[in-house]
Amino acid sequence: MFGRQSERWMQHLSLVVVLLLAAGLALPSAANPRFDYLLHCGGCHIEDGSGNPPEVPDLRQDLAYMIGFDAGRAYLVQVPGSSQAPLSDASLAKVLNWMMETYYPQLGGDFKRFTPEEVTRHRSERLLDPKQARAALWPE
Ligand code: HEC
Repeated sequence: MFGRQSERWMQHLSLVVVLLLAAGLALPSAANPRFDYLLHCGGCHIEDGSGNPPEVPDLRQDLAYMIGFDAGRAYLVQVPGSSQAPLSDASLAKVLNWMMETYYPQLGGDFKRFTPEEVTRHRSERLLDPKQARAALWPE
């Protein structure tokens, strides 16, 4: 698993470098959610969000369900990959909203966006067991 994963990661890293170079030429202040995703999330979740299930969940599967209610929204912010990323609350909110737009085009942008304030509120609480928290989001 790690061999293949790190190969994908290297391919991914070269893409990030190319993108950053392009961004440096085109947009001098390039902090944007797509770059933040590629830099801070894409190493595990892969550029297209497919991840490496079951360890790294496919981001294109269940987020449209989870984002619809408070406990699900809290989970999306509190998973360690999100909450511990070296991103401000505002940038993390943008990355999460970007993921929704990118991986759920069928929603046509019709979802409740994360604000920096909501991210701050959820982020202040630690998630001890992500798998258990995830399972608890579905009715028995
Ligand atoms: C080191 C690998 C890694 C990185 C980097 C990472 N994640 Fe994750 N992510 C995981 C794993 C593993 C899970 C499954 C839950 C767990 O065990 O933490 C997960 C779960 C998630 C989930 C829940 C998806 C679901 O269906 O349950 C979201 C949302 C998420 N990550 C967002 C992010 C965001 C946003 C970033 C970047 C800011 C990020 N992750 C960076 C490994 C990573």
